[in-house]
Formats: sequence, structure tokens, C-alpha cells
Amino acid sequence: MGATFDPQAVAAKRLNEVPFSGIRKVFDAVTQLEAAGRDVVHWQIGRTDFDTPAHAKQAAAESLARGDVHYAPNAGIAPLLKAIAARTETDTGVETKPEQVIVMAGANGANEGIMVSMLALINPGDEVLVSDPNWHHYKSCASLAGGVPVEVPTREEDSFALRAEEVEKRITPRTKMLCVTSPGNPTGTTVSEGELKKLAAVAVKHNLVVMSDEIYARIYYPAPCAPSIYSLPGMAERTIVINGFSKVYSMDGWRLGWTVASPQVTRHLLKVRQYTTVCVNTFIQHGAAKALTASQDCVEEMRQAFAARRKVIVEGLRSIEGVTLAEPTGAFYAFPNVKIFGGTSGEVADRLLNEHAIATVDGAVFGTSGEGYLRLAYSCSKEECERGVERLGKALEGMRG
Ligand SMILES: Cc1ncc(COP(=O)(O)O)c(C=O)c1O
Repeated sequence: MGATFDPQAVAAKRLNEVPFSGIRKVFDAVTQLEAAGRDVVHWQIGRTDFDTPAHAKQAAAESLARGDVHYAPNAGIAPLLKAIAARTETDTGVETKPEQVIVMAGANGANEGIMVSMLALINPGDEVLVSDPNWHHYKSCASLAGGVPVEVPTREEDSFALRAEEVEKRITPRTKMLCVTSPGNPTGTTVSEGELKKLAAVAVKHNLVVMSDEIYARIYYPAPCAPSIYSLPGMAERTIVINGFSKVYSMDGWRLGWTVASPQVTRHLLKVRQYTTVCVNTFIQHGAAKALTASQDCVEEMRQAFAARRKVIVEGLRSIEGVTLAEPTGAFYAFPNVKIFGGTSGEVADRLLNEHAIATVDGAVFGTSGEGYLRLAYSCSKEECERGVERLGKALEGMRG
């Protein structure tokens, strides 16, 4: 007779290195509260409340009706690769060819780009530098690939900007990759062009690969597009740009993103792609190509709407006694400091959710330096933001000492 099957012990050891998503946990708790009839303020998830542009939906529907129901090329359909290369040139000023692009897909959108890049480039024990706090996927994907994530702390007093000198202090002979997310999640911080130049110099000096997640590049308040490290001299060959449709075109349910890298690095990524999702749904890609090639007025309208919500959130948070806030310059996140309200930020987040139906995410979910902060995703309507800050002010009033 064989040994008893133990479903717990059957998990691969690499799973010990990665947690379940702390954001998803809040998502599930909100669903339960709403089922019990509570009116919840939705600041928990980075998902816009806009619809996908109608022309993109129509192009996907037409493609399906036409019979585009078979495998697409591994990297993506030609019109979409061309549109992404053109978009990259517009946003970064770097000449980019369609063969440098892979449309990323499946259950992961831009996340697939991150996982595939880690699997293609990270050897067991390679160190991956990630600013802290940060969206947890870089750390988890690095771990799943056998790498070792190394946090680079950032500080509220410094607007949570990733600093080249902090990066350099953590470089060892095992350091292989630096992850830059700008504008960032969970802080909404954008790395300035001056600091990007310093980071680029460190990457060149220590021969690092840079993963630049630019998914929020067009949700930037000082200008239509945030600066990119890919555009700096010597960086195009060593940078993998991660970008996608989820945020800017409100297409998160479509699960669609892309990578841009040198033709040689793109070939490494394609090898992994061949054994993962193989290719992205064909008709979905036709809708996405339309999103990129049609008028971009919808992107500007969304950016303006987010700017109005950001004003409500920033002014509202700063008017609450005891709360401090580093100015968010991009994405749709604010990361207020709630340290004076007692307990850990996890406890503050739990009380806000359970006692006041305000859904935020504990900053500690995003890394060691996130303790004491909450992430508010102001991707809900302006009215909900107004209602939310009023409710939050009253709730925190009752929690002060
Ligand atoms: C910084 C960052 N990159 C990538 C993604 C994932 O995007 P996608 O929906 O394309 O997987 C997110 C989602 O929240 C994000 O915050």
C-alpha cells in the first residue's frame, strides 16, 4: 500500500516564498460585507470604474464575427505589434520595432510580462532589487523564478522615490535586475528624470537588467506621459518595458499587456511564452489594436477625471488631523500615514473596513516600509471619493487615542 496522500505537503517548496495576495483578501471581505447589505467605500482595488472604449469592444466583436478564432502568432498579431511599437516611440522617443514587442496575456496581462521576464532571465540565487513599498508581484515572481528579492527602502519624507544611492548600497555580485515602477503602486510616486538618470548610471555600472513597469505612464498629472528610463542613453538594450491596457483603457478584464525589449532579450522571453500561454486570444488583440490606433481623447478624459478625484482625496486626507500624505503625482493611489491612530496599519485597515465599511489596503502588504500606511485606490467615482473622505475623517476621529 502507498503512503497517504497529503495535499498540504504536495506543494512545491517555492510556494513557501510567496504569500496569497493581501489585496485580494480585502476584495473578498468587501464582497461579504456587501452581501450583508453594507454600503462600502471602494478604495481597495486598482480597477477603474470606466468602461472600455466602445471602438475597442466593437473591433473585438467584429473580429470574432469574422471568424478570428484560431491561434495567433506567439508574439502577437502584426497590427497590434506595430501599434505597440509606435506607442512606445511616442511615449519614450526610442525607435522601437514590432519584433521587440510581445503581447502578454492569459490570466495575467502585464503580470505575465513580469513572470515571463523573471523566468527567462533570473537564475536561482540571482538578486532582484525592488523598491519598498511596492506592488508585490515583482517580489513574488522573482521568488517563483528562484531569485531572491531585495527590498530597497523608500521614505515618505522623500515622497517614496526610489533613490540610486540606496540601490547601489544593496548591490552584490549576485544582483541581476532592478525593478522600477513609475508612477508607482501603492504610493502614486513618480521617479524624476534626474533620478532615473542616476538609476540608469548604476544599472550600466553594475551591468543590471532593468524592468521598467510603465503601466501608469499615461496616468501622470504634471504632463500627458511620465518620464521613462528606457529612453535614456544605453538603456534600451538592458531594459524590459512592462505596459498594458488594464488601466489606461479600462480593459483589466481583457487580460492584456505587453513587453518591449531588445530583439535578443525578446527572443529569450518568447522561449518562455512558447511553453506558457503560447499566444493571446486572437480577437481580443484586434480590439486592443483599435484601442491604440483610434483617437486617444478617451485617455485624456480619464486622466482629467482622475485628476479631479485626486484633488478630493489629497485635500480630504490632508484635512484630517494626524494624517500626513506624500503628494501622489501619478497612477490613482494615495498612501497616507496613519501611524498616530494606534496599532498596526493592518489593525487600522481592519477597523475601517469592519466598523465603517471603508475598504483600503494595509500598507504593510506592499513591504516592510509600508507599515503605518494605507493604500487608497481612488479609481472609484468622484462622488464616492467625497463620501469616503467624509466618512474616513469621522472614523479616524473616533480612533484617535
Ligand atoms: C504597477 C502595476 N503593474 C502591473 C499591473 C498589472 O496589470 P495587468 O492587469 O495588465 O496584469 C498592476 C495592477 O494593479 C500594477 O499596479
